[in-house]
This record gives sequence, structure tokens and C-alpha cells, in this order.
Amino acid sequence: MTRLRVDDSASVPDGVEVWPLYDAVFADHPDLASWREGVWDRHRVRDGFRLARAHRDDELVGFAYGYTGEPGQWWTDQARGVLPPEVADRWVGGHFELVSVGVASSARGCGVGRELVRSLCRDLPHERLLLMTTADPADPARRLYDSEGWRVLGRGIGSATVIMGRLGDGAVLS
Ligand SMILES: CC(C)(COP(=O)(O)OP(=O)(O)OC[C@H]1O[C@@H](n2cnc3c(N)ncnc32)[C@H](O)[C@@H]1OP(=O)(O)O)[C@@H](O)C(=O)NCCC(=O)NCCS
Repeated sequence: MTRLRVDDSASVPDGVEVWPLYDAVFADHPDLASWREGVWDRHRVRDGFRLARAHRDDELVGFAYGYTGEPGQWWTDQARGVLPPEVADRWVGGHFELVSVGVASSARGCGVGRELVRSLCRDLPHERLLLMTTADPADPARRLYDSEGWRVLGRGIGSATVIMGRLGDGAVLS
């Protein structure tokens, strides 16, 4: 059975738990120390931080996290630069940024990714939610986001990526 938990804060030991799965899924940092310094210890203290985790027995099989995106943060400033100005004015800044979602290869295709995204985004106070993903509409992550109501707002940062947006639960954009 898969257990889902969502937390509004995360500690250094939480990062130590997430790291092996993060590394297995993304493999974009050489070691835990560099990921902690460059990513985890900066992200986990941001306003609006939220972490969703999925466990099977005691094994972490999935995670997703995000936080409030604000001007002055690297991704928010880059997104403002690549999106059409009228789209950026409407969506960027004060949004919830879905930074990362990953599921262990042994646990994929069973609904864990969808539950993680739903749990992470449920009842957020933000009006607007943003993420960046591949431009390939056939990619599993793209299909997941499409089916959860996310829509492409424009090209992303770097090649072959898009920025997607979704309204928060109950939000109405003026
Ligand atoms: C994307 C990811 C999180 C999906 O996790 P998952 O637990 O396998 O997803 P689910 O079983 O909840 O499936 C949800 C939806 O995703 C899509 N999906 C999942 N696996 C898919 C596959 N192999 N091919 C196509 N679509 C797929 C489908 O739309 C699926 O809905 P459906 O089952 O009703 O068709 C997982 O594949 C993963 O960790 N990928 C690598 C990391 C990554 O790309 N993260 C996103 C970065 S932006």
C-alpha cells in the first residue's frame, strides 16, 4: 500500500531521505553535498514550501515539492524573461512553483505521480501555479500535467521546454 504525506516544511534529514530517489530519477548533481548546497537548503526555506512524499512500507517511492515563486529568485526572473510580457504580468510572481516530481521506476504507472501532484497542489492559497517541463507532448510528465488541467503558457527556459500554468483551487483570474 502507498502512503502519501504532505508537509509544509522540511529539514536537512528530509533532504537526506529524498536525495537517493532524486538522484536515481534526475542524476543532475554529483553528490548529496552539492545538491544540498545548490538546491535543497535554498529551496526548503522559501515561503510557501510544501513537500509531498509517497512511501511503500518504509521505502520512499515518490516525492514532489514546490514553493512560492518571487521576483529575485532565479527561475521566476528567467520565466518572466521568456514568457510573452502580457502572460508574465498575469502569471509570474506570487505563484506556486511546482519545482520537482519524481517517482521510482519500480513504482511508476500505478497512479503515484498523479496523487503526488494532486496532494501537493490541493487547497494551496496561491491563485496561480506554474511549472516547467519538456515540450514533448508524449512525455509521461507532460501527459500527467495535461490531464491535471495544466496548460502551456509559452516556451520554457532552455531548449525543448515549456512553462505550464494552472489556476489554484477556487481561484478566478481577473
Ligand atoms: C512523470 C512521473 C512522475 C509520472 O509518475 P507515475 O507514478 O508513473 O504517473 P501515474 O502512474 O500517476 O500516471 C499519471 C499519468 O501520467 C501519464 N503517464 C504516466 N506514465 C506514462 C507513460 N509511460 N507514457 C505516457 N504517459 C504516461 C499518463 O497520463 C498517466 O495517466 P493515465 O494512467 O490515466 O494514462 C514519472 O514518470 C517520473 O518520475 N518521471 C521522471 C521524472 C520526471 O520526468 N519528472 C517531471 C519533471 S518536469
